[in-house]
Amino acid sequence: MKISKTAQSVSDSVTMAVTARAKQMKSEGIDVVSFGAGEPDFDTPVFIKEAAKRALDAGATKYSPAAGNLELRRQIARKLKEENGLDYTAQQIVVACGAKHAVYEAIHAIVDPGDEVLIPTPYWVSYPEMVRLVGGIPRIVETRQEDDYKLTAEGLRRAITDKSCLLILNYPGNPSGFCYTPAELAHLGDVLAGTDLAVLSDEIYEKLVYGDVEFRSLAAVCPALLDRTVTINGLSKSYSMTGWRIGYAAGPADVIGAIAGIQSHTTSGPATFVQLAAIEALRQGEPDIRRMHAEFAKRARHIHQRLNSLEGVSCVEPTGAFYVFPNVAEHYPRLGVPGSAEFCRRLLEEARVACVPGAGFGCDQNIRLSFATSMAQIDKGVDRLAEFLQNA
Ligand SMILES: Cc1ncc(COP(=O)(O)O)c(C=O)c1O
Repeated sequence: MKISKTAQSVSDSVTMAVTARAKQMKSEGIDVVSFGAGEPDFDTPVFIKEAAKRALDAGATKYSPAAGNLELRRQIARKLKEENGLDYTAQQIVVACGAKHAVYEAIHAIVDPGDEVLIPTPYWVSYPEMVRLVGGIPRIVETRQEDDYKLTAEGLRRAITDKSCLLILNYPGNPSGFCYTPAELAHLGDVLAGTDLAVLSDEIYEKLVYGDVEFRSLAAVCPALLDRTVTINGLSKSYSMTGWRIGYAAGPADVIGAIAGIQSHTTSGPATFVQLAAIEALRQGEPDIRRMHAEFAKRARHIHQRLNSLEGVSCVEPTGAFYVFPNVAEHYPRLGVPGSAEFCRRLLEEARVACVPGAGFGCDQNIRLSFATSMAQIDKGVDRLAEFLQNA
């Protein structure tokens, strides 16, 4: 059958490929340690499940408004005001089927064919593909390990051309595990203030920051950008609700109206009873978020220390999300591998450790390890990695 040129331009997700192979090996009885997970290893808190069951029993089984349940949008507006210092009305918020779809719809609403979208490395794999899907041109902006893989004001200034239409920022970052400080955001904001670039700020990991790092929303640090920033967030990571598919976009009324229009003709609003459970999650979720956060914080410190003690491995300390992104390129010549994809393939086949190649995130010198797994698995996996690096 004919496949459109647009669909053909989309590459397979590298994250999915490694996870699929690791799953296959596990199903064959092979003891694989998987650092591939992009989701918390905790169950969804019980009170959220109970709220969904109650909603189902009460008959919340029909269509929701296309832009999302109004009470949920009000709760999100309250959360954004109280926690992020952002003033949005419920009408400036769309609830989507996951943050992923909210990002896609926002790109769709802003980018015309031929427009360039600035995407700093290392980037979440889906951003460039989403830009291609709407006919835009992803412009990858290199960052440096010395800068903790963060976009600097100078790097941003150099990357902007008259075709640039949108900047995508994601912090805490997947896959880098970093978080921009308010001062760093302010520097980027100064550069952006002199342009008319729109900004998409993907803050899905906001609750997962470690050490003395303070998370602040971009539009709160740079109020001058408020009327051209779309803030993306959702419940998947903070509330361990990846399978529930609730994310949202908040921003200027015209963009949000356009997103709501796209959504009304594509998915419609997310599942009605799930949205009612999401209201409860936002009302009462803090203690569970703190419990999961405490565990992630311990793991972040531990895995960073262990990886950094390995010969030829250098690793920026993760200050957010649940990923570490070590540079392992020193080992490529000795192993005879051309890059991260072959490194990860051999690591999985020979040492039974699943990591994600950095190539898919625009950094071929690195691999991504998710610490959304137990301390025991972390130790076992890093032991195997150490042995692989020594003896392979
Ligand atoms: C940076 C980033 N944004 C968005 C998402 C998508 O989140 P959701 O599961 O809510 O679609 C992910 C999930 O991996 C992510 O890493």
